[in-house]
Amino acid sequence: MPAMSEPGERFAFGENWASFLACLDDERIAESERCLCKMLEVEDLRGLSFLDIGSGSGLSSLAARRLGARVRSFDFDPRSVACTEELRRRYFPDDPEWTVEQASALDEAYLRSLGAFDLIYAWGVLHHTGGMWRAIELASRLVRPGGKFHLAIYNDQGGVSRRWRTLKRFYNRAPRPVRWALVLAVGVWWELRAALARLARFENPLPFRDWAAKKKSRGMSVWHDLVDWVGGYPFEFARPEEVFDFLRARGFTLVRLRTTLGHGTNEFVFRRPN
Ligand SMILES: C[S@@+](CC[C@H](N)C(=O)[O-])C[C@H]1O[C@@H](n2cnc3c(N)ncnc32)[C@H](O)[C@@H]1O
Repeated sequence: MPAMSEPGERFAFGENWASFLACLDDERIAESERCLCKMLEVEDLRGLSFLDIGSGSGLSSLAARRLGARVRSFDFDPRSVACTEELRRRYFPDDPEWTVEQASALDEAYLRSLGAFDLIYAWGVLHHTGGMWRAIELASRLVRPGGKFHLAIYNDQGGVSRRWRTLKRFYNRAPRPVRWALVLAVGVWWELRAALARLARFENPLPFRDWAAKKKSRGMSVWHDLVDWVGGYPFEFARPEEVFDFLRARGFTLVRLRTTLGHGTNEFVFRRPN
């Protein structure tokens, strides 16, 4: 079970994902497939085993299954598990090649029972466990020789990240109306800043192009990402070189990297040598 967070200090990820499922469409699913193939540098995933750690909505598991992988998905939040099960029910009912479970990325005995996988996918998850480095360590052990480990971890922005952590903790302790007010305030503040930046570049200040780009980012949604960002707690972060050094020391080679300048995640694909 995840340690280091007290009751009421954990963001209800699954609630946010349940609402995301209402706006899931074919275009988002296709985008998720496209992004997966691009990062993993493959045409499809036929014949490969895929472990989706912290599957959330289940969209990436669905994309992997549609690309031909044998998929095992798990998440700590029962409502996230229900979302992933719902996608399985909708698109692959009774499919023996897609298993969905409730479990924790910090449960060593459970992880050991899973065996090894060709692809381990942990996008935006391990920094929310309350034990990020331990979770990275445990997940990395499940990569088969020659297999890949695809993870996204929040960027360490120094003092800014620490202040966000305080705000996120406050959000999770606050009553619901205060939470909504916080999400709206952050959303309005970001959009205003972005509009001013676009104006300064003599571009159209309206946000629609950026919102469309968000949909193209793994099929995600602007609103649900905003709620996830403001509330997502426990919250840890790392500089890209810290993640690189940690996994290089465990024998991994970095094969793909996408960094962010701001508050988002750095994305990595590591390969375990044969
Ligand atoms: C930001 S969401 C990311 C979901 C999905 N991977 C994606 O790319 O959209 C983080 C997910 O990690 C899950 N999570 C948090 N702690 C976990 C843990 N200890 N074990 C497994 N999943 C966990 C949350 O419940 C949530 O569904």
